[in-house]
Order: sequence, then C-alpha cells, then structure tokens
Amino acid sequence: MLHSRRGLLATAGASVTLASLPMGWAMSRPATAAASSPAPASAPAPAAEPGSAPFQVPLLVQSPLRPRRRAGVDHYELTTAETDATLLPGATTRIRSFNGTIAPLIVARRGRPVVIEQVNRLPVPFAMHLHGGHVPADSDGHPRDQLEPGRSRIFRYPNTQQASTMWLHDHSHHDHAENVYRGLAASYVLTDEFEDGLPLPKGRYDVTLQLRDAAFAADGSLVYDPDGFRRRPEYLVNGRPRPYFEVAARKYRLRLLNTSNERFFLLGLRGEGEIVQISSDGGLLPSPVPAATPGLWPAERSEVVVDFSRYPIGSQVVLENLAALPGEAPEVMRFDVVREADDPSRIPDRLRPVHDQGEAALEREVVLRFDPATGRHLINGQAFDMDRTDFRPRLGQTEIWKITNADTAFGIPHSLHIHLNHFTVVDRGGRPPAPAEAGLKDTVAVLAGETVRIKIKFTDYSGQFMYHCHLLQHQMMGMMGQMEITG
Ligand code: C2O
Ligand code: CU
Ligand code: CU
Repeated sequence: MLHSRRGLLATAGASVTLASLPMGWAMSRPATAAASSPAPASAPAPAAEPGSAPFQVPLLVQSPLRPRRRAGVDHYELTTAETDATLLPGATTRIRSFNGTIAPLIVARRGRPVVIEQVNRLPVPFAMHLHGGHVPADSDGHPRDQLEPGRSRIFRYPNTQQASTMWLHDHSHHDHAENVYRGLAASYVLTDEFEDGLPLPKGRYDVTLQLRDAAFAADGSLVYDPDGFRRRPEYLVNGRPRPYFEVAARKYRLRLLNTSNERFFLLGLRGEGEIVQISSDGGLLPSPVPAATPGLWPAERSEVVVDFSRYPIGSQVVLENLAALPGEAPEVMRFDVVREADDPSRIPDRLRPVHDQGEAALEREVVLRFDPATGRHLINGQAFDMDRTDFRPRLGQTEIWKITNADTAFGIPHSLHIHLNHFTVVDRGGRPPAPAEAGLKDTVAVLAGETVRIKIKFTDYSGQFMYHCHLLQHQMMGMMGQMEITG
C-alpha cells in the first residue's frame, strides 16, 4: 500500500511529480513582453496580501438556478454584469458575474435541451462558452460571435452527451482571461439515467466546488495582473476564501472544478483521509481510483468521493494543495464532521465504460511553444488568427493528435483543450495513461518536454471550433488554433 505522500504522488493521474511541477515552472517562467500584452493597461497592481486566515467563513453551497420549463426545454436568462459581492469577510469586492451571483450552478438533464438568453451588461465584450459541451458552432461562443456591451444572444445546448461536470466561461477575443479572473464562471452539471442508477452519493451529498486562486488588494479589490500568476496566494472555493464546510459522517460526492487562469491544484487530505476519484472532465471513469491525489490544471474537472464516516464527530479534515507555491498557505478548505447521517451510498467497482472511438484515419502534430522573442505562445509556430483555419477535420472521422510541449528551456507547462468532443488519452510519454486519466477528457496537461497522444472523433456538428492552451494568459498570448469541421 502506498501510503507515503511520495507514493501517493507517484500514483497521481497526470504524470505529476512534485519535482517537475510548478515550483520549477514558477521560478523559470520568463515574464512575457508587457508591451505586446493585449490586456487593458491598468495602473501597476498594489502588492497582494499574503492570503487571509483560513476557515473563517462557511462554504457557499449553491443551489441550482431555476429554469422556466417549457415543452421539455429549460430556459434561463443569464445577465453578465459587474456587481459588488462579499468574498473576503468584511470587504466588498467588485466582481464580474452571471446574474449577480458568484459561482452559480445550472443542473441540466441529458435529453432535455437548455436554452439561455445571454444579456451582456459588462463594460467589455463577452462570449459565453460551455466548456465540455457538445454544442453546435453557433452556440459555442466563438470570439467572432462575442457580444458587445448591451447586446444579447440565444445559446442552445442540446444535452445529448453523457453526464458530466462542465462550466460556463468567457471566450471573448481580448477580455476572456480577465473576465474569468473577475468571477465569470458558472458550474453546469449534466445528469443522466445511467448515473441515477448508480448508488453514488446524491442530493445534498453531491456538492460542486469551484476552486481558483486570486490576489486581493488591502481594500478587498481583485488585483488582475496578467503575468501575476505567482502572486495569487488566496484560494477561493465557490468564491469564498478557504472556507469550512459542515458535513455529516458519511460519503459525499464532490465535483471539483478548477476555474483559475493558470493555477495547478494537486489535492490531498491532510492526515489519514482518502480521496477516491470517480470522474474526469467528460464524466465517470471506467472504475474508481482509490487513494487519489487529483491534479487539476485550469478548466479540468475531477469528481471524488470522500467518506467522512471514518472520522469521529468533531473532526476537522483539511483539503490542501500539495502543489502550493513556495510561501503559500496550502489549505484549500476544511470539512468539519458535525453530525451522524444514514448512508445508503457506495462506490461501485465499475463506474462507466469508455468506448473506443475506432481506428484513427490520421495523426496530427500539435507543438506548443513559448517564443521568448515576441512573448507570444504558439501552436505549430503560429499565434491565433481568427481568419486562418489550422485544421480541417472530417465529421465522423477519428484522429490522433500528438501534442508536444517544446518548452523545455523555460519549463512552462501547457494544457490543451479541444472544443466539441471529448477525447481519450492514448499514451503519455509512450506509456498508457494512469487510471485517473483513463476516462473522457477535454483538457489535457502536457508538461515541458512531454508528448501526449489523444484520440478524438468529431461528431454531429460542423463549423468552426477552437482548441487552445487553457492557461488563459497563454491563450491570450496566441496559443489557440481554429478548426473547421466539415461533413
Ligand atoms: Cu474552457 Cu475554449 O475553453
Ligand atoms: Cu471549451
Ligand atoms: Cu500554455
């Protein structure tokens, strides 16, 4: 049994070892050329506070937004705007949000479409994207379709795909990184009959946790420095700093979702606790992964089950980031075991099979690389150009993408996200994926010097879709490509 921390790390999903991880990255990543940054020129950021004392505020557990139900379709209106919110105790923070709420939650049902009227009342453009969604091109939030302030647009999500945890975020041309940073992230949980039939924890024991980092000024305002990823020491869970959560002594399903711009979380419970990972981006894994330390790069999701019945009432169980940067407090949140409860749930040995997507017709090369001369991040030597089509996949054809991170000189990690369909990891460095990476994915970390091959089949919808690094500052600095899928 691998119960030492080192042992646990060695079994973590995405080939992570602490030595190869963001500490090295943080210290060796060059500052990008400020002059070429498309971010708005704001005043130099005041120094961030080291982070507030942990466990001062309760977790905010979001209940789902209520749709208007008509003819088997769920209708929502989502207005994006700036609002004042309380994130840190005793302070008011200007955020950008959906409907004035931090980390709102939509729960959708497979087979029942969701239609959203999105009204943009932000001072900047906004393009709503359902990350992980299998949706037509005109509802995918292409930067070309971004909404100018004051405009609205209808988005249609068919929800024909299998159950998974997704999220809504901005995909506008120049403002997405800042919009996401300032709070525009909504959880989108899709359920289905298959999952209903499993004895996993349900209802109030199924909780969505949006994790992210942030930097706050002394007055409580959010500090957005596009290159400041090393100086975002505050961890927020559903918009609250390092909260506590009162739980019953039973199993919980926790849907972890990393909405950070660039932060990597490697999650573990302090002490003897065990995390069992049951899903990745695209839904349930084929089988549960015991003694997991889920690693979440930006936009990745991981659902886990934690059994609090192994702790006596009165216990406090700390979830921490094993990849905290030097000097950062590692605490993410705390579970306070406060009461008994019945627990009919259990984790089945088999969760959901992942079907092979068939023989690949072609293999594409995707090389990710930072260009120190221009401060841009490139895919196959090129920065994003909305008027250029990089790949032309055929609808219904299976492809292999061989993704290489060529940034060995700087040790920069990348994490490639592909729109429209989920994929499977074929191999990582020539070796089969670890169990936690054996499910459906839509975002995959490729660390410096690594090569990861994925298999993907584009289905149902033709048109223009994006693929990009989901470290948002890299995406902002060019690391995005465009494909035109044709029937
Ligand atoms: Cu999460 Cu192209 O986005
Ligand atoms: Cu996406
Ligand atoms: Cu990147």
